[in-house]
Amino acid sequence: MIRKIGVLTSGGDAPGMNAAIRAVVRSGIQHGLEVYGIYDGYKGMYEGKIERLFRKSVSDKIRLGGTFLGTARLPEFANEEIRAVAIENLHEYGIDAVVTIGGDGTYHGAWALERMGIKCIGLPGTIDNDIGGTDFTIGFDTALTTVVEAVDKLRDTSSSHRRCSIIEVMGRNCGAIAIWTGISVGAEYVACREIGYNEEDIIQTIRDASKTKRHAIVIITENLTNVEKLAETITTSTPFEARATVLGHVQRGGSPTPRDRVLAATLGVRAVEELVNGNSGVAICEVNNQIVAVPFETALKSKKDQVFEKYETFKVLW
Ligand code: F6P
Repeated sequence: MIRKIGVLTSGGDAPGMNAAIRAVVRSGIQHGLEVYGIYDGYKGMYEGKIERLFRKSVSDKIRLGGTFLGTARLPEFANEEIRAVAIENLHEYGIDAVVTIGGDGTYHGAWALERMGIKCIGLPGTIDNDIGGTDFTIGFDTALTTVVEAVDKLRDTSSSHRRCSIIEVMGRNCGAIAIWTGISVGAEYVACREIGYNEEDIIQTIRDASKTKRHAIVIITENLTNVEKLAETITTSTPFEARATVLGHVQRGGSPTPRDRVLAATLGVRAVEELVNGNSGVAICEVNNQIVAVPFETALKSKKDQVFEKYETFKVLW
């Protein structure tokens, strides 16, 4: 029977992480457990930055972006000796189980801890929506809302000046933000890893658009190309003058949308239930509107292809 649980956030922060921590803390206390916050992700677990949390500790946190526990990336956590130190720290506080909130790096860490005897549950938290096993991740809806608002604003000025706006969005290995934005704003072109990057195709699409439209919107995921250079090429080879905007880390901030708050609360409550029922080694996921527990191994192996299907369906509208 577990009595004390830890909660941490790891990897890139995502809006809604605070709502998830709150849900774990409050439902844990409701189940009679002691709940401990582990600061700065696995780094804090290794350094022993652990503190007991109470109902009050998570008051007024649900509406805040970021993560009040802090987060970090610690590639060294792949080393067993580093994890052994972290586990010693958990033992010092009598912590039997940990809820980890983050992306696939976070799942890898949790799964490794699970194999070393610490009961772990993962919650998908990242703006990228790139984690297998779940339809949606905590933070994606808020980031998408931020990006769509920004692109709507850019469209106003593009249209006034008869310009092409190129918008670079986040998504290290996944085009979800780009594709969902493209569908939401009716962009002329979306380029991301899943779709590929074809400069000739982009130029031709913009030339075509210039015949009937006052603006063109191109959404591109980070690391595909130099968007400033692309803007120069578009300016010299199409009737539109082009401007590039890199949205950057603004996409990771801000108050979570109601959708992200509800997802975070639902997954957090279920995580504690699973632990109380003696289950661990799983990620809590939303699949077809159902909340399910998916083994880490399965979640890490599964591929997300729904994004590409969406693109194919809506391409006809562009
Ligand atoms: O994984 C979330 C994410 O925002 C990616 O979209 C992006 O590539 C990465 O994190 C940026 O990481 P950092 O904040 O460490 O630069």
